[in-house]
Amino acid sequence: MYHQAVFDEPIILDLKGRRTIKIPLEDVKFKIEVPEIMRRESSGMGDREEFSVIRHYVKLSEMNFGVDSGFYPLGSCTMKYNPKINDEIANLEGFRMIHPLQDTNEVQGALRLLYELTESLKKITGMDEITLQPLAGAGGEFTGLSIVREYFDCKKQCDTRTEVVVPDSAHGSNPASSHMAGFEVVQIQSTPDGTVDIEKFKEAVTEKTAAFMITNPNTLGIFEDKIVEMANYAHSKGALLYYDGANLNGIMGKTTPAKMGFDIVHLNLHKTFSTPHGGGGPGSGPVGVVEKLKDFLPYPLVTFDGKNYHNDYVPPKTIGKVASFYGNFGVLVRAWTYIKMMGEEGLRDACETAVLNSNYMRKKFQEFMPVPGKTIKKHEFVASSVGANMPKAGDIAKHLIDNGIHAPTIYFPLIVPEALMIEPTESATKAEMDQFVEAVRQALKLPHETFEKEPLNLKVTRIDDVDASKNPKPTLRLARKEQREPLQQQVI
Ligand SMILES: Cc1ncc(COP(=O)(O)O)c(C=O)c1O
Repeated sequence: MYHQAVFDEPIILDLKGRRTIKIPLEDVKFKIEVPEIMRRESSGMGDREEFSVIRHYVKLSEMNFGVDSGFYPLGSCTMKYNPKINDEIANLEGFRMIHPLQDTNEVQGALRLLYELTESLKKITGMDEITLQPLAGAGGEFTGLSIVREYFDCKKQCDTRTEVVVPDSAHGSNPASSHMAGFEVVQIQSTPDGTVDIEKFKEAVTEKTAAFMITNPNTLGIFEDKIVEMANYAHSKGALLYYDGANLNGIMGKTTPAKMGFDIVHLNLHKTFSTPHGGGGPGSGPVGVVEKLKDFLPYPLVTFDGKNYHNDYVPPKTIGKVASFYGNFGVLVRAWTYIKMMGEEGLRDACETAVLNSNYMRKKFQEFMPVPGKTIKKHEFVASSVGANMPKAGDIAKHLIDNGIHAPTIYFPLIVPEALMIEPTESATKAEMDQFVEAVRQALKLPHETFEKEPLNLKVTRIDDVDASKNPKPTLRLARKEQREPLQQQVI
């Protein structure tokens, strides 16, 4: 059982340290004229010696729960164990110390890695070309939808193809990216079995549709079994099909988005391919496309002439760049290593085990809580804490955290009331899954007053959820109600 270490640790800016070395000005070889407006007397960071800084971050890490701490069933995040070999390879000097502007002759190994990763992802998705540039899933979506826009622009249809059709079970980033790429969002309802209502789908997809965007398995963990019918119908109306492949663990090695009829796919390497998703860390959302969309991909693409690797291919109708250089290189190295270590069979095995684990837990949950939608799930499932005397999903989550167990995702997808979204992944043991199921089963038997003040044993106790979402204070300055310095205001 995990117990959070609780330290009374200030933030780094408030950490009092001893004076450390001061770099003599005359040691600075080059004088750079910093514009007056940007000059500051101090960085505001103060002086802290190495050991204070190390102790500070070690304490913070001890207060944290991560994939290396234990079972982490955060639905839609695929918090699987990420083997350490992937970090070791990413930390090799040859990868860690290179610079993206280095001569290509000096970085042939890195370019080979990017090329090979692209080839592997082509196989995994069935797509004809891939860009590794986007830095997150939502960034991949925006890239893919910008390609859709450019494609219809070239066909002189951008004035008429103005809509993207999205099911109501979609991740929030799908309608958001569609809107950002300049489309109107048309939402379609799901049926009580948790899949797209095919009649409503046919009403929604028209000659105005630029793309139909869907996750499969969807966010309820259910495989949309009418996907080929939907793909054929959308294509017959001249629309493109976008596959949100953020969660590939449910199909990896078993089928591909190409086989289902999709034209564009994004993947979240920071879920399925060995970088954890939680915590807003660095991500990677490669986008794959079919042949007719290859020319629109961001540039540059890495190519191989049989002898050398090159990084200067600019697709003729490119949408431009969506990130600097090649994206998050360290995440790409981890994904390459993971795929090489697992092999085709290993990836399929991971998918099968993840699906088996999810259904093992789903069956147990059904003994005490509704699990809406079709019975058999893929890599995750959503339970619904509704019914006589059931606690709220948020209360169950806080109770679990207070008892040293990481909570599932809650209140998503929006179409399930009091949702608990559970994704055990392939790395869960039977004992961990049983412990989690029992913890929730026991929580349901507790009087509701138990939950009122929980969590009690953590550094951060009960927060006001409504205030936190209605009045967010995402910067220190806002949290402390400090005024922005006029100097910085001008710079920003
Ligand atoms: C289904 C789905 N699509 C898209 C995303 C967006 O990915 P990212 O958080 O990397 O932007 C997520 C993230 O959880 C997701 O679950």
